[in-house]
Amino acid sequence: MQILILNIKKLVQVEDKPAVWKAGNDMAKLKTIDNAYLLIDKGLIADFGPMSKAPDISSLSGDVLIYNAFGRMVFPSFCDSHTHLVYAGSREIEYIDKIKGLSYEEIAKRGGGILNSAKRLAETSENELYNQSLARIYEIIRKGTGAVEIKSGYGLSTESELKMLRVIKRLKETTPITIKSTFLGAHAVPAEYKGRQSEYVDLIINEMIPLVASEGLADYIDVFCDKGFFTVEDTERILMAGIKYGLRPKLHANELDFSGGIQVGVKYNALSVDHLEFTGDDEINALLGTETMPTLLPGASFFLGMVDPPVRRMINAGLPIALASDFNPGSSPSGDMKFIMSLGCIKLRMLPEEVINATTINGAYAMGISDTHGSICKGKVANVFITKPIPSYEYMPYAYTSDLIETVILNGSIINDK
Ligand code: NIG
Ligand code: FE
Repeated sequence: MQILILNIKKLVQVEDKPAVWKAGNDMAKLKTIDNAYLLIDKGLIADFGPMSKAPDISSLSGDVLIYNAFGRMVFPSFCDSHTHLVYAGSREIEYIDKIKGLSYEEIAKRGGGILNSAKRLAETSENELYNQSLARIYEIIRKGTGAVEIKSGYGLSTESELKMLRVIKRLKETTPITIKSTFLGAHAVPAEYKGRQSEYVDLIINEMIPLVASEGLADYIDVFCDKGFFTVEDTERILMAGIKYGLRPKLHANELDFSGGIQVGVKYNALSVDHLEFTGDDEINALLGTETMPTLLPGASFFLGMVDPPVRRMINAGLPIALASDFNPGSSPSGDMKFIMSLGCIKLRMLPEEVINATTINGAYAMGISDTHGSICKGKVANVFITKPIPSYEYMPYAYTSDLIETVILNGSIINDK
């Protein structure tokens, strides 16, 4: 089945030759075509261009669905490269503690935070966990996400970590969204290992990583390398073990302090280092000239009321930036990438073009799929969304609570479960 979308007011983020990522000044550049068409065939982007070059309908063979997009724009689907959307229940009680003034670290110290989610997850069956997570997957599909990375890390025991990763695998097999899976056994030290952190690191290295790898359950490996969580030394040990099993790092780094997480991520050629609220000149210099995508999670710093990363300095230095949702029950209970674009503009003072690049092509890079996702490019997977009638692409991050996505297409098929 082919889909021919005609009279597109603006086709956004088009590429003739696929870029690996957009960095520095290029982040403010966005290629678009006015009054355009887009042809989708066999799940892929087959052709696009101005309406004056649109194919004659009679020249197309087989089933063709014609979609008149008059007044509407077409974007590549968002690529959300950092989430924890497989979790059990929710944590709105801690939200109240936060409103009353407790910090993220204080809540974590009281057995709240990640350990609270780990307890709930241990009590939840694999099937129930799948069902709760499936609802979140369809929520983000409706909001325009076409590819998502999902982490484990609320298991914190071999059995529960494997349970989470099997749920992610089942979501990969049963939903139309593209999913990458990351093993985050080192998300927090479980209560029973309190005071014996290095023994928990041993468990991750000697038991969890080999099992995760033998079942092929993860694409990447992550460590929460930050003050009060895992040290640089713990992180190095875990990353070396993961790399031995073919798991490339994607790190939680510098959310709570200048933790050394950015430098250790670069040292082990991480695909991305994420959060980065605590970034200075040393960290920027460490990132320059590497293959590591600096990824910012403005939903988390917004929700927790924390400092924002120095994004303008990073872009001016020539770095690329990806934005992701961090969808999780504790620090960012939302996977709405359109809202993440708005936060990028409002809180981080990024330009509309910059946030579009950061949530599409750069997000795709940060999850290892920029050759197939993240832009409108011939041969890439046909993951796109059609907006409601809107005046400009800048209107998307500007109208920050409006539902402006009318039609979602994943793998060349219109998603009807909206
Ligand atoms: O990315 N920073 C570490 N992990 C998550 C928070 C997880 C939680 O609080 O449940 C994050 O913000
Ligand atoms: Fe996270």
